[in-house]
Amino acid sequence: MCGIVGYIGSKDAKEILLDGLKELEYRGYDSAGISLLCDGKFSYFKAVGKLENLVQKMQKCSSNGSVVGIGHTRWATHGKPTEINAHPHQASRSFVVHNGIIENYQAIKKELQSSGVVFASQTDTEVIVHLFESFVKDGLSDYEAFEKCIDTLEGAYAILLMTKSSPDTIYFAKHGSPMILGINEDNEKFFGSSDAALIGKCSQVIYLEDGDYGCVTSDSITLYNKEHTRAELAFVPLTVTKLSAQKDGFRYFMEKEIYEQSEVISDTLLGRLSDDMIVFDELDEALFDGIDEIKLCACGTSYHSALAASYLFERLSKIRVSVEIASEFRYREPLMSQNTLFIVISQSGETADTLETLKMAKKAALRSLVICNVDNSSMVRLADASILTRAGIEKGVASTKAFATQMMVLWMLSIYVAKIRQSLTSKQISDEINTMREVSRVTLVKEGMHERITRLSKRYLHGHGFFFIGRDIFYPLALEGALKLKEISYLHAEGYPSGEMKHGPIALADPELFTIALMPQHMLYEKTKSNIEELSARDSTICVISSIEFDKADDFIALESHGHYMLEFFEMMIALQLLSMQIAIRLDNDVDMPRNLAKSVTVE
Ligand code: F6R
Repeated sequence: MCGIVGYIGSKDAKEILLDGLKELEYRGYDSAGISLLCDGKFSYFKAVGKLENLVQKMQKCSSNGSVVGIGHTRWATHGKPTEINAHPHQASRSFVVHNGIIENYQAIKKELQSSGVVFASQTDTEVIVHLFESFVKDGLSDYEAFEKCIDTLEGAYAILLMTKSSPDTIYFAKHGSPMILGINEDNEKFFGSSDAALIGKCSQVIYLEDGDYGCVTSDSITLYNKEHTRAELAFVPLTVTKLSAQKDGFRYFMEKEIYEQSEVISDTLLGRLSDDMIVFDELDEALFDGIDEIKLCACGTSYHSALAASYLFERLSKIRVSVEIASEFRYREPLMSQNTLFIVISQSGETADTLETLKMAKKAALRSLVICNVDNSSMVRLADASILTRAGIEKGVASTKAFATQMMVLWMLSIYVAKIRQSLTSKQISDEINTMREVSRVTLVKEGMHERITRLSKRYLHGHGFFFIGRDIFYPLALEGALKLKEISYLHAEGYPSGEMKHGPIALADPELFTIALMPQHMLYEKTKSNIEELSARDSTICVISSIEFDKADDFIALESHGHYMLEFFEMMIALQLLSMQIAIRLDNDVDMPRNLAKSVTVE
C-alpha cells in the first residue's frame, strides 16, 4: 500500500528513484511523484495514473551530481487520485512522502489553518510538512522541528522529509508502516518501504522498528529509537535477488506466479518432510506445551487459507480451532486465553489489521506464530516464532503462489501438531507426507487445462453474478475462487457452502447465474452432487470442476483422478486461478494491477 523510496548519492538519482518506484508500483498505482534537491535547487514532478506517466514527465529532467531525492507511488486514502493529492507534498521549503494514515490530521490542519497556513491537497500527509515548517518558524532547528513533528503525529506512518536548509539530508520516521534504510560500498544511502525497491542497489540494510526516526546525509546516519535514545546501526545483509521479480516471458506476473507454484511448493517442502514426521527447524515443540486451542487470524486470501486450515487442524490434529478476520477481531474485545496458540497468516507480514491482532495477542501474553512470506517483515520480527512460506516475491496483486504455499505450510503444521498430540498413527502421518510429495506435480499447469479454460472463459463475461460453491475445505477454496474473480474481472462473485444455497441464494438461480461448482471425488461427492442438481433443476448455468464427469453441468473442467482430497484441492486451485485470469484478460482488465487495489494493505 503506497511505496516510498529515497536516495542520497552522486549517481543518477532520477533513474534510481524511478527504478525503485517501478519495483513498488504494484503496491499502489493511483499516482506517483518525485522531488529532487540538486545544488540547493528543488524540482518536483507528479503524475496521475501509472508510473509510466511520471517517467514521461521526467524525460527532460537531469539529476547528476550530488542529489537528495524522495519518491512515492500512491494508493489513495484521503482525497481522490489527483495530481494535487499525489506525493511528495510541499510547504515553502520542504517536501514529504508518507505511507499510512495520520489519524489526528484534521485537528492539526485546523490549528495550522487558523495560523494562516493554506493547504493545497485533501490529504492527511500535507499536515506533516506544514507542521514541520511551523516548528522551524518557531525557532527550532530542522532536526528539532522534525522530532517535535513526529511526536505530534498520531496513527501509522513511514515518512521521508527533505528541506532546503539541510540540503544534503533526508529525515525519516517509522511507526506502524514499513521502512528500510540501505547502504552500499559507494557510500550511497537508500530508503525503501519494501526490500523490492533496494534489491541490486545496496548490500546492507536496517529494517527500522516502530518509533525509529533520525536523519541521513551523504556521510552520516543518525538513528534514534522510540525512547528518543541514540540507537545502534544494526545492519544486516540484503539477501533477496532481483531474478525472482521478473516476468520471465509470461504476459503477466499473475500468470508467471500461477506457473511457478509447482516449483515454489517444492521449495516450501524442502528439508521439512521426513518419512514419518514434519521437520520445522524454526519451531521449538515447547511452543505447543499446554496449548489446547489454535486461533488463526488473517485478511483476504490469507484468511481463506486460515479457514481452510481449520478443517485440517480439527480433522488431523484434533485440536479446537477458531478463525478470525483480523479487522473484526481487533475491535470486538475478544476473550483470549493463555492456552491458545495465536497464529497469524500473511503474505507480506505488514498488513495493518493482522499486525495489530498480533500485538493484541502479545499483550495478552498468548504464544504466537506467524506464517509469512517475507522474512524480516514486521510480523516475523514480532511473533514468538515464524514459518516462512518460501513463495518468493509475489508481484501480482491477486495472490496465487502465496496462497498455495500458505496451504502447504498449514497442512504440514497440522501434521506436526498431530504428531505432538498423537492424534494420527505413524502410518497415517506417513500417508499424508507421501501425498504432500505429490503436490508439486499436481500443481504443474497442464497446457490442456489452460487451453480449455481459455476457451471456456468467453462464456463467462456477463451474467448477474457468480456463485463459487464447495463443501468442507472446498468451501474456503470456493471463497478464494470468488475473491480472485472479483478482484481482477470486477464481476460480482460470491463463495458459498454448497449445502447452504437452498437457504436463500438459490432464489437467484436462472441461466444468467453462473455457478462454479467444486466437486472433489474424495470429499462429500454425493452431497455436493445433490446440491448442484438442485441448482441445475432451476436452470442456473453450471461449470463443474471435478475428475468425475457430470452430465448436469453446462461446462466441465476435468481434473486428473487423484487418491486424496488435498491433491484435488491443489489442482482445483490452479483451475480457479486460471479461470479468473482468462476472464480478466478477455475483459481487457489490468491483471497485475487491478483497479482500486494495492498489494500489502498497511492501513486499516
Ligand atoms: C487477494 C489478496 C489480499 C491479501 C490480503 C492480506 O488476492 O492478495 O486479499 O491476501 O490483503 O494480505 P497479506 O497476506 O499480505 O496479509
